[in-house]
Amino acid sequence: MTLLPEELKKDFPLLQRTVRGGRDLVYLDSGATSQKPVRVLDAEREFYERHNAAPHRGAHLLAEEATGRYEDARATIATFIGAVPGELVFTKNATEGINLVAYAMSNAATSGPESERFKVGPGDEIVVSEMEHHANLVPWQQLCQRTGATLRWFGITDEGRLDLEHLDEIINERTRLVALTHQSNVLGTVPPIDLITARARQVGALVLLDGAQSVPHQPVDVAALGVDFLAFSGHKMLGPTGIGVLWARRELLEAMPPFITGGSMIEVVRMEGSTFMPPPQRFEAGVPMTAQAIGLGAACDYLTELGMDRVHAHEEALVAYSLERLGEIPGVRLIGPLSTDARGGAVSFTVDDIHPHDVGQVLDELGVAIRVGHHCAWPICRRFNIPATTRATFYLYNTLADVDALADGVRHAQKFFGTH
Ligand code: ALA
Repeated sequence: MTLLPEELKKDFPLLQRTVRGGRDLVYLDSGATSQKPVRVLDAEREFYERHNAAPHRGAHLLAEEATGRYEDARATIATFIGAVPGELVFTKNATEGINLVAYAMSNAATSGPESERFKVGPGDEIVVSEMEHHANLVPWQQLCQRTGATLRWFGITDEGRLDLEHLDEIINERTRLVALTHQSNVLGTVPPIDLITARARQVGALVLLDGAQSVPHQPVDVAALGVDFLAFSGHKMLGPTGIGVLWARRELLEAMPPFITGGSMIEVVRMEGSTFMPPPQRFEAGVPMTAQAIGLGAACDYLTELGMDRVHAHEEALVAYSLERLGEIPGVRLIGPLSTDARGGAVSFTVDDIHPHDVGQVLDELGVAIRVGHHCAWPICRRFNIPATTRATFYLYNTLADVDALADGVRHAQKFFGTH
């Protein structure tokens, strides 16, 4: 393996605890939220113990230090995705970042040459896929309802890939925006973003990527991707909850109206009206999530030191092994690509006709934490005609032994329910 997960586990206090009567914890739910290394916890604690103040306000030393640390974190996170700090807006999470863009598209953009691109109405189309997380589906459904635009989508092949057979028809001259997952949280699938962006460019459509599951797990460089927007969450990449990022090309951010308004995002306020700061401050009303941003900066440093190529290769090895181990169990149906090609570390499956909630309960009793349900991507379950799946998601601290514990637990569930 490219990483030494047993060593890395020592950096994560939570992974030292036992569960359910003294069993070792096997944490296979990092797609929902990752665990946090001491370094991230220390960065937050140090901020509160030494520098706590509201950034971008106040003239005292602490306010100056808080501002410096908050902006340093922005620069670190920007470097992590190959961006410049001025193009990076702090949000609560990926969901909020996507909603910010959807809001901009149904409200007159402020100014600049790119503002026309945000005007959406009847006759215009927004393109998503059937494998989107609800966070990258519902905001676009709502946008279409508000504006009279039409929602279109790519289907999913039997193998769990994006069905691109009608690419040129689905993305056409009427398309204003293509919003796609960069790595499915259920299937693990990584769609061919280059093909999609090339077609979107041909017709002048914007491209937004939901990077909630990609940025934590694979090297991501926004310049190389050639997209317009990328949204992701801190808590899935070793950082704190309550902090996320919307990255967008500067000209686009300039054209977008404020989403949440209030303090710290204004230039001049009079009783008759107000003017607004340039981005990113325009989108960061109120006292921001300062310790959380600093914690996310520390998480990026940790990941950078490990190397995202190595993190990705490590997860690829775990996926290959889990496809093999689960695939050899009679009665297990894997939902999603069966090869590690263009695929990340989410492995979903069903076990005979045992409901995934029951599988989850048996695994939990054994100390194996996985997620069950539709994983906020309900249309995928409909596509495969199943009520839900059992899903394991991996990260840098998982071992091959964790995969063995999962496979053994699945066999145990089969025995428990008498299906095999
Ligand atoms: N989006 C998270 C998941 O896939 C919560 O579990």
